[in-house]
Amino acid sequence: MSTIVQIEDLTTGVARRDYWKKRIELSEAIRPHWTSLVAEVDNRVVGFIFGRAGELEFGLPGTVAWIEIIGVHPGYRRRGIAAQLIEDFTSSAHDHGIRTIFTLVSKGNEEMERFFTKLGFAQGKMLHFQKE
Ligand SMILES: CC(C)(COP(=O)(O)OP(=O)(O)OC[C@H]1O[C@@H](n2cnc3c(N)ncnc32)[C@H](O)[C@@H]1OP(=O)(O)O)[C@@H](O)C(=O)NCCC(=O)NCCS
Repeated sequence: MSTIVQIEDLTTGVARRDYWKKRIELSEAIRPHWTSLVAEVDNRVVGFIFGRAGELEFGLPGTVAWIEIIGVHPGYRRRGIAAQLIEDFTSSAHDHGIRTIFTLVSKGNEEMERFFTKLGFAQGKMLHFQKE
């Protein structure tokens, strides 16, 4: 857990130790276990992906696998680690009969937009609404 907190802290400047403690417990308890993965280099965690599977949500037919958060340690980026995490996530989804992967990216986050585009993701047909 501490490595995930550290990767997020290095990326966003926010360390959410309590959040991650609860998030990992939740993943272990109710999320399909293939939706949470870590990447290791020399026995050290350097990347992670957390997601979930959602059935018949938002009026969508069937089941969709959601990528909720992905992160790679800044010292290990641009080596294909995140691409491998997404590939493993996608292939597990496929093994569970799920053919659609969703994620959300903030408008203007060009890094994430380029990353997902490179990996074959395209803008979807859902509209994101919100109310403050
Ligand atoms: C986006 C992120 C996951 C990519 O991880 P990574 O392991 O470096 O990605 P990969 O090496 O697998 O990159 C695959 C392709 O995506 C694209 N890509 C990756 N990072 C990119 C960037 N910063 N800008 C533009 N394109 C990028 C490239 O096309 C890359 O292929 P290439 O290196 O052959 O050109 C990583 O930069 C990260 O963790 N960023 C912060 C994400 C974040 O805010 N997460 C929430 C908090 S932790």
